[in-house]
Amino acid sequence: MKVFILGITGRTGNRIAQLLISQGHAVSGLYRRASDVSRLQDMGIHAVSGDIATIREHDLAKAIAGTDVLVFTAGAGEQDDESMIDAVDYGGVKKSVAALRLAGLSRLLLVSVFPEAAREKCFGGSFEHYMSAKKKADVEVANSGLDWVILRPSSLKDDPGTGRVSLGLANFHTEITRDDLASTVVALLNTPRITKKILELTEGDDPIASAVSAIQLA
Ligand SMILES: NC(=O)c1ccc[n+]([C@@H]2O[C@H](COP(=O)([O-])OP(=O)(O)OC[C@H]3O[C@@H](n4cnc5c(N)ncnc54)[C@H](OP(=O)(O)O)[C@@H]3O)[C@@H](O)[C@H]2O)c1
Repeated sequence: MKVFILGITGRTGNRIAQLLISQGHAVSGLYRRASDVSRLQDMGIHAVSGDIATIREHDLAKAIAGTDVLVFTAGAGEQDDESMIDAVDYGGVKKSVAALRLAGLSRLLLVSVFPEAAREKCFGGSFEHYMSAKKKADVEVANSGLDWVILRPSSLKDDPGTGRVSLGLANFHTEITRDDLASTVVALLNTPRITKKILELTEGDDPIASAVSAIQLA
């Protein structure tokens, strides 16, 4: 399988790339800092220069041409720059949908967020803006007509993965390791029959392979 990752230099994207490469898949991805190139190339990644906020749709289409699936796991983060959140977390997803169409491709896996995340708490404006951008991105993908999966992880942490999760159509918002998120993404990529589903992922007791099989059967 040929996979193109937006967010490949990030903590989740890089873990997804590592796992895919270890399974013999071909991985490409977009980077924006020249200092990242050698690290990506040393991993065996085909690295393509570009900034999600500014790349034109047809240039992104050229970059992803020939790949089987696009994984979007980029994010401007919960920063104060709302224009970057708009350009990456929403605009980047919108652009990805357009680029897939231009390239004649259809498969997209979007790493999103729990819409109910921390709803019981009161956060500042930029967090709400981030949540709203993520929601708009989900809507864009769900309405795209593409062959999509939206995966909503709960709060991410860098502890070692457990290989066990809770994956379902609706879930409680707790925490999940980026290791377990990456393994779940790869298991979903390896299960193309799972399509047009919004899945929520958090820590749990189910081995990842069983959790993904259960979705396939549902
Ligand atoms: N943090 C959480 O608790 C949480 C919870 C649920 C979902 N999520 C979502 O899960 C995904 C992965 O999160 P993470 O914390 O693992 O990611 P991360 O480490 O913050 O990495 C973000 C990635 O996005 C890339 N990026 C940002 N702006 C870009 C731009 N303009 N052009 C190109 N690339 C750009 C970064 O590239 P650079 O290396 O160049 O900066 C990096 O590769 C994100 O979509 C995030 O919103 C996060």
